Amino acid sequence: MVIGVPKEIRVDEYRVAVTPAGAETLVAAGHQLVFEEGAGIGSGFTDDLYKASGARVAATAEEVWAAADMIMKVKDPIEPEWPRMRSGQVIFTYFHFAASEALTTAVRESGAVAIAYETVELPTGELPLLTPMSEIAGRMAVQAGAKHLEKPGGPGVLLSGVPGVLPGKVLILGGGVVGTNAAKIAAGLGARVAIMDIDLERLRYLDDVMPANVHTLFSTRPAIRKQIEDTDLIIGAVLIPGAKAPSLITVGDLAHMREGTVVVDVAVDQGGCVETIRPTTHRDPVYSMDGVIHYGVANMPSGASQSSTLALTNVTLPYALKLAGHGWRKACSDDPALKRGLNVVDGRVTHPGVASAFECDIELDDVDALIERSVSGAHTTAASRF
Ligand SMILES: NC(=O)c1ccc[n+]([C@@H]2O[C@H](COP(=O)([O-])OP(=O)(O)OC[C@H]3O[C@@H](n4cnc5c(N)ncnc54)[C@H](O)[C@@H]3O)[C@@H](O)[C@H]2O)c1
Repeated sequence: MVIGVPKEIRVDEYRVAVTPAGAETLVAAGHQLVFEEGAGIGSGFTDDLYKASGARVAATAEEVWAAADMIMKVKDPIEPEWPRMRSGQVIFTYFHFAASEALTTAVRESGAVAIAYETVELPTGELPLLTPMSEIAGRMAVQAGAKHLEKPGGPGVLLSGVPGVLPGKVLILGGGVVGTNAAKIAAGLGARVAIMDIDLERLRYLDDVMPANVHTLFSTRPAIRKQIEDTDLIIGAVLIPGAKAPSLITVGDLAHMREGTVVVDVAVDQGGCVETIRPTTHRDPVYSMDGVIHYGVANMPSGASQSSTLALTNVTLPYALKLAGHGWRKACSDDPALKRGLNVVDGRVTHPGVASAFECDIELDDVDALIERSVSGAHTTAASRF
C-alpha cells in the first residue's frame, strides 16, 4: 500500500504523523511511504532521515495526496486539503467531526474512508490514541503554570518553594489521564497538590499510588470554592465523554482567588471547566481577567512536538500496520477497537457521535453491514449521492 504523510498546515501545528522509525517499520512490512517535503521539520525530523528510512519525499502536498491509498495525519484536514481527499482513500487522523459540520460534509462528499484516532476504543473503554496526548498535556500543564507564576506577568511564585519558604499550592480538577500526569510532575517539583474528582474509586487509586504531597478531595462546588481561595495554580482536567466540560469555576469565583493565580484549563478543547476560559495559542498563550491569569492552549502537545510525534507514532503504528497490511475492511472486521474508529465510509456516517452531532440528524449506518456491502461491491458511490 502507498501511505502518504503530508505536512500539517494548521497554524502552530508542529507534529507529523509518522517518525522516521515508524516509516522504516512500514517500509519493512512492504509498504511505500511518501512524505511531503519538510513534513517532519517541526518535530526535528529532516527529509534525509525519511529518505534513509526508505521513504520517498515529494515536493508538494498534492503529490502526496494523489499517490496515497492511505493518508496519515495528525490534525483533521482543513479547507485547502478538502479537494485533495478522494473516494476510497483511507484517511487516518484526529478528526473530531462533531466540532465541524463543514468538515463532516466535506469528508462525506469526498467518498473517503475516515478513521478517527479519537474514537479508536478498546473494550475497556480506553481511548489508546488519545492517551499519550493527555499524558503530554498533563505534564506540560505544570510546566506552563510554573512559567506563568514567574515574573514578568505572574505573581513571582516558585512552585517548589525553598528551604524556609512553603512550596506553592496546585489544585487539579479531574484525576484522569491529564490530572494524574499533572499531579506527578507537580508533586515531583515539591508542590502541595490536591486532586479533585467525582469518581471515588479513582480517588482511592490515586491515594494509593501518589506521593505524600498529593491529597485527594471529592469534587463538589463548595469544596472547589474553598480550595481556590489560596491556590497558586489550578489545572482543569475534567472530561465528561461526549459532552461539554462542566463549568466548575464560575466568573464570580475569580473575585475569591488570589491576585496572580494561574489557571491552565487543559479541558479548553471541550469548552473548558473554567467559565472564563477561551482558546489561546502557543504564540499568545495567556490573558488576564480579574487578576487571574488564564492559559487556554487547545493544542498543547504541539508545543512539545518532538515528544508528541514520538508518542503518537508509538500508538498509531500497530493500527497503521493492520490497515496497510489487510486493507481497512479486514483490519476493522478483525479489530473491534479499530472498527470503532470508523466514522465515515463512502459518504455514510458510521459513528453515533457524528450522526447526532448536528441540528439536522444524519442517518447512522450499521458499520458491519457497510463493511460487508463494501466487500461485495454493492454500494453506491459518494458522488452519486451528493
Ligand atoms: N488542551 C489540550 O491540548 C489537550 C490535550 C489532551 C487532552 N485534553 C483534554 O483534557 C481533558 C481531560 O482529558 P483526560 O484524558 O484526562 O480525560 P479522562 O477521562 O482520563 O479524565 C477526566 C476525569 O474528569 C473527572 N470528572 C468528571 N466530572 C468531574 C467533576 N465535576 N469534578 C471533578 N472531576 C470530574 C472524571 O471522573 C475523570 O476522572 C479532556 O477534555 C481532553 O480533551 C486537552
